[in-house]
Amino acid sequence: MLERSTARRPVAIATHAIACAALALAACAPPPTPAPAPSASPSRAPASESPTNAAAAATTSAPPLGAYGECDPTPDGIGRTYFGREIAHFMSHAGIPWLERDSRESEERTSALLDALRLRPGMCVADIGAGSGRLTVPMARRVAPGTAYGTDIQPEMLAFLEARARTEGLSNLKGILGDTQDVHLPESGVDLVLLVDAYHEFDHPWEMSRSILRALRPGGRVALVEFRAEDPEVPIKGLHKMTEAQCRREFEAAGFRWVRTDAQLPWQHLVWFERPADGP
Ligand SMILES: C[S@@+](CC[C@H](N)C(=O)[O-])C[C@H]1O[C@@H](n2cnc3c(N)ncnc32)[C@H](O)[C@@H]1O
Repeated sequence: MLERSTARRPVAIATHAIACAALALAACAPPPTPAPAPSASPSRAPASESPTNAAAAATTSAPPLGAYGECDPTPDGIGRTYFGREIAHFMSHAGIPWLERDSRESEERTSALLDALRLRPGMCVADIGAGSGRLTVPMARRVAPGTAYGTDIQPEMLAFLEARARTEGLSNLKGILGDTQDVHLPESGVDLVLLVDAYHEFDHPWEMSRSILRALRPGGRVALVEFRAEDPEVPIKGLHKMTEAQCRREFEAAGFRWVRTDAQLPWQHLVWFERPADGP
């Protein structure tokens, strides 16, 4: 079993993240997506540039009755359930070496994943739960001069990601400190959202998925990547895996349309969802 470093969510992080709700960012506009003004370094845009999702979040419809529940916490979980699965602890920034391990390419075929995203220059994309930026950095290279947002709730993850982007001169990579209920992305501005090994850790998955839905342009897509719970050979702890059926159940409940599920990754589902053009 691969070891992952997880931690109980420190109150300080949540508090800090909420305090940073004003860091809503606006390099992406509704389509057609203009190229962002280049800046000297990866940046967090000022709150004044655009309205955030926060106002809309306040009016979001409630989760389906009974979607959230409670259970006795297991060692890897938080004792909160969503559509019957226990939510996992998020991975601490102490796990950065695991995210950056050399064997990841052969185990997860991250380059095949990046190819499957069909990124093009000028796109506006967001890697939510970006961690160390292992995927965000190559995404930013591929969409330049478009924008790649990397969001996370841990300031330490963002610091790592932003330092890396600075080193590589990627001024189109923008870090966003999100909170656990809102991605703080501009409304209807994002072409593609990537979620790699992160969604199952969201302690408010309903609120997060509704926030993602609003951030996507109509017809915009989510690429959800989760370790396959159906496959006992995938050497990842149970709460850090999801079945395809569970992925579909949760995203369809939040208003997404399932597009297809790709099977080219050795350990993970790649499940595609779309914000319906005529939907919420
Ligand atoms: C296992 S790591 C994966 C990182 C990255 N996606 C990768 O594959 O390299 C999951 C990340 O999701 C972040 N996370 C957990 N809950 C989150 C939330 N509600 N919003 C944004 N990020 C979150 C954690 O802080 C952690 O950095």
